[in-house]
Amino acid sequence: MRDRFDRPLRDLRISVTDRCNFRCRYCMPRERFGEQHTFLPRRALLSFEEIERFVSACLPLGLSKVRITGGEPLLRPGVPALVQRLSTLGVETALTTNASLLRDQAPLLADSGLDRVTVSLDAIDPQTHASMADCTIPVETVLEGIEAALENDLGPVKVNCVVQRGVNESEVPALVGHFQGTGVIVRFIEYMDVGRTNGWSPGQVVHSMDLLKELQREFDFVPIEGESPSDVATRWAHSDGSGEIGFISSVSEPFCGDCVRARLSADGHLFTCLFASGGHDLRAIIHDGGAIDELTDAIAAVWSRRTDRYSEMRSSETSSLPRIEMSYIGG
Ligand code: GTP
Ligand code: 5AD
Ligand code: SF4
Ligand code: SF4
Repeated sequence: MRDRFDRPLRDLRISVTDRCNFRCRYCMPRERFGEQHTFLPRRALLSFEEIERFVSACLPLGLSKVRITGGEPLLRPGVPALVQRLSTLGVETALTTNASLLRDQAPLLADSGLDRVTVSLDAIDPQTHASMADCTIPVETVLEGIEAALENDLGPVKVNCVVQRGVNESEVPALVGHFQGTGVIVRFIEYMDVGRTNGWSPGQVVHSMDLLKELQREFDFVPIEGESPSDVATRWAHSDGSGEIGFISSVSEPFCGDCVRARLSADGHLFTCLFASGGHDLRAIIHDGGAIDELTDAIAAVWSRRTDRYSEMRSSETSSLPRIEMSYIGG
């Protein structure tokens, strides 16, 4: 089953909550996600059983990888139980987290069959971390979460760092140095115009090639061949074998042509692009509890009409359309 541009559905990102205990300025700025903000009520969230049915329905379409996201997924109680259900289905399971709760949950997650963990971390410097994440949870807690993931074999552990000009560029070599030799793969992400609340402007983006040039003054990197055309990151290895880093260049080098990713919101809407104006409301058919084939057909109907390639088109024409927030559909 392919979309209009011949792209299969291989990878599903499932948001299990739209809440987060961080308020990263580029994702959930406090002015917009403060006391007044209405999050999804508990009763609106898909149950784990419903999520499992959704994933089962995607299997005949070629799904092979599931990533659990949020908001912050570990704020929702019972995520290990969800992972267990999903890994029984035979899909690869991964989790994207801010790691604030990972130290305590890593052993249970590992037991539940979770394959891999990705941690969002934009700075090692305590002050820079505190001001970017706009929260009181110290960077030390995040680093302990990463340690716990490594100790529990939830690897290769990846770190996602969103780079913003004038905010955390100086953290880039520090992050590379910190994780060199640890097995953790740090990936630098070009700051994107996701959602409508972060006030993105092109001048805030640091292009990956510029970052790499800067890093080459201090470190010696050699390119590594990617594993699959749908990988979002380009990979570079320390020439002495002490590790690898990556760049996710969705602004300077968009990768829509190989985009095999679908996203399911915590309340049962299917999105076929990170920059979609709206989702496809599949709640009725998900809640229905009837034959799985019907759900498979509904997902196939959405996917087969898909023509998304926002990052390749990024233009004044697309910039005024409404856009869903990243915290609602996850990365
Ligand atoms: P694995 O291959 O499973 O390790 O995950 P991944 O490489 O797909 O990476 P991950 O899900 O951690 O995505 C990293 C970041 O890349 C996200 O947080 C986004 O910022 C960006 N990204 C991922 N997928 C897309 C996409 O489909 N479109 C765009 N524009 N950006 C994406
Ligand atoms: N641009 C790029 N990446 C972003 N993320 C959140 N907002 C943005 C943005 N505007 C990343 C986070 C996290 C993942 C869920 O998405 O850093 O790693
Ligand atoms: Fe929370 Fe992740 Fe968004 Fe930061 S980027 S506010 S940790 S969901
Ligand atoms: Fe896929 Fe949309 Fe990202 Fe392009 S912009 S890679 S279509 S999610």
